[in-house]
Parts: sequence; C-alpha cells; structure tokens
Amino acid sequence: MPLAQLSKLRYSAATAAFQIEGARTEGGRGTSVWDTFVDTPDRVIDGSTADPGADSYHRWAEDVALTAGLGLDRYRFSISWVRVQPDGRGAANPVGLDYYSRLVDGLLEAGVTPFPTLYHWDLPIGLEEAGGWLSRDTALRFADYTALVADHLGDRVKHWYTLNEPAMTTLQGYAVGELAPGRFLLFDALPTVHHQLLAHGLATGVLRRAGAEAVGLTNNHTHVLAADDTAESAAAAAAYDLLHNRIFAEPVLLGAYPDLAALGSPELPIEDGDLELISQRPDFYGINYYNPTTIGAPPADSPIPFDMLPTPGVPVTGFGPDWGIMPEALTALLVDFHRRYGDALPPMIIGENGASFPEPDAAGRVDDVDRISYLDGHVRAVAAAMADGARVDEYTVWSLIDNFEWADGYTQRFGLAHVDFTTGERTPKASYDWYRALIAAARS
Ligand code: NOJ
Repeated sequence: MPLAQLSKLRYSAATAAFQIEGARTEGGRGTSVWDTFVDTPDRVIDGSTADPGADSYHRWAEDVALTAGLGLDRYRFSISWVRVQPDGRGAANPVGLDYYSRLVDGLLEAGVTPFPTLYHWDLPIGLEEAGGWLSRDTALRFADYTALVADHLGDRVKHWYTLNEPAMTTLQGYAVGELAPGRFLLFDALPTVHHQLLAHGLATGVLRRAGAEAVGLTNNHTHVLAADDTAESAAAAAAYDLLHNRIFAEPVLLGAYPDLAALGSPELPIEDGDLELISQRPDFYGINYYNPTTIGAPPADSPIPFDMLPTPGVPVTGFGPDWGIMPEALTALLVDFHRRYGDALPPMIIGENGASFPEPDAAGRVDDVDRISYLDGHVRAVAAAMADGARVDEYTVWSLIDNFEWADGYTQRFGLAHVDFTTGERTPKASYDWYRALIAAARS
C-alpha cells in the first residue's frame, strides 16, 4: 500500500436522507418525488418504502457514534429539502431544521466535520408538478432553500456539497425513468442538466455569502471503454462520455458545454450570465465512482447513439454484470480528469465509492471480504492516480450503513455497518474494522 499518498487523504463515509431517515410523516415533513415513487406500485423491486428503514431520524446518535468509531475526518449526509421546506417554497419548518442542527452538533462533539449535501434527489413534489428540473424556476427555489439551511446551520457547517449526481437525475430520473420522478423523455431530458447546474451555481453564491469555506458538487462519473476497436464503437463511446461525463463537468470546470453534435445538438435553455454562475470555481470537484461503462455501436434503428454492454472479464457486485469491478478504471478516470482539465480542475474528492453484495437481512456480524477487497482495490487506485499527478484530497465510502437503495429497495446492501431493517439494529461489518484500521494507518 503506497502510504505516502494515503496519508494525504481525508476519510469520510456517506449516506443520504431519504435512504436512511425513515419517519416520512414525522416532524412536519412534506412529500418529495421519492415518496410518490415508492408509494406507486411496482416502482420499487421489493415493494419497500424506505420507512422505517434504518430509522436515522430517531437513531442518528448511533450513526454519529459509528462515524466517530471509524475515526472519520468528515461525515457526508444529506439534508432533506422537504423536512426543511415541506412544499419547496416559503418559510422553513423549524422542526426539520432542528433535526439537522442536532445531528451537526452531535458530529462536532464527536470530532467529525459535518459535510452535508443539500440535494440528494428528494425534490418537493409541488416543484416536480410545476415542471421539476425541466423548469428554470426549480433552480431559483433551490437557492431559496439553500439560504434557509445556511442561515440555520452556517455558523457551524463550513463545508457543503450542493448537488449529488445530477447525471443520475437527468439520465435515470428524467430520460429513462428508473429513478424518481420516473419520466421517459430520452434526449428531451437534457434541459434538466442546465437547470441543475444553475441551481449549483446559485447555491454556491448563497453559501459563500453565508461564510462557507468549501463548496462544490459531486457527480457520478464513469470511465468509458469502447467494446472493440472499430470506429463505430469509438464514436459511440465518445457520445456516451459526452452524455455521462462531459456535459456535466465542463460547464462547471470550463464555463462552456462541450460540442453536443454527437447527441443531436440539443438546445439547452441557457440565459445570459448562467455559465458565469455555474463556473464559479468550486473549492473541490466531487467524483462518485462505482464501475466502468463499456459501450458499443448502437443497433441500426436505435434512437440512442450507443449501446451499453457488460464489461467483459471482470468480477461483478451484487448488481450483476452492469456493475463490473475494475479499480484501474478509477485510476484512469482520475488521471483523465487531471489531464483534460489541468488547472481548471480544483482538488478532487471521491464523494462516493463502494459496493453491494448479497448479505443476510437479520442482525449479526457480516464477514464482508468482497467489500473489503473492493474498497482496498479502489483506495489503491486513488493512490495510483495521485502518484500519477492527480490531486485527490478525500475518499468517501458509500455507505456508512446499509440503506434503501432507491428502486432496488433493500435488495442491495452497501454499508460498513449492517442494518436489520425490522429492528433498526446496527452491527459493524468486517469492512468497518478494515476501514478504521486503514484510517489509523494512514495517520500514523
Ligand atoms: C449513488 C447515489 O448517490 C447513492 O444514493 C446510491 O445509493 C449509490 N450510488 C449506490 O447506487
């Protein structure tokens, strides 16, 4: 293990409000697109509703103890928009803000820096009904919500992620409908890219005016592999790289969208001044990485300019062939970012990295050797990218605890700690001890 690089990293673990809190009807909480999604039959694979789930609304102090036990530098959690602003507009709900205030105080007392995400996919339903991320107004509403949170927590919280994975909201939420709000708009989903990035830009200004020290966003990025060495596959891979990676990264890092001709030159709803707001230099650039993506040429009559294929010859996670395990793809991704964007790229943070594997539902110690091997391989992959010149400041495991995996319900467990979803009991897994030892070794 190249300890020189590992000792330069800060260490974190992540969760998200909808995935861990439960208590969907408590504390004056409003309804988000995810509430509507889970309450719609057949949307979630096991029919689960995220409630009570890990029940962190009541058991947050146990989560704080888990972060402290690991020796984390920071804890990445998310703030639920509908707990703070139940209708997505108007006055703040003090009960919701107080919940996060207690969590923040608990973390600070435990010596763990709170690093919240303001938006991890739980859009207030009223805003979705008014157009959701297809509407420019949603970005303005997000800035108002950000101000409410910053007013209440900004005295103690100095590090912020604005958005989590806008790519997944666009691609899986609006383009193909696998995640909330479940729309199937294909390329007509692309205005949601711009409105989310505009929301990030507006919120960045709000947070900085409130005294933030570090503001950025974290996106899902993948290393794109062409399925073979034909020109058709290379062109398809380049189109996919545009759609998954470049269309999200370049407005933020370079202040301009890439040439979108390979995606049919969609019109984006850009207004004067937007790109300046979006490209205010972030203090960090977050990368959530899970797996590489192998792309081949599309079938002749496809409306989409690429074909997604399993990555051949690699082991897989609990999701099967779509989630191939290839740590060297993370090294390649980080080095590519470093080379492509040079000085325009602030320090990178791995905002999420982790894997699910089949594990028992009942409480008890899990000897999750596959997760340890996945995480160990990927931390080494980060170190290798750093040795090659990429600047990475932080590594974050997804997830601190087992949680509600969106449309996959409770069928995919990602936690360093096991959660029994009938009782809420948390039990550290072998990977928890492995991570604690890694952090201690990196500091020694
Ligand atoms: C990315 C998302 O941010 C998180 O919510 C999700 O659970 C993990 N990936 C695993 O799919």
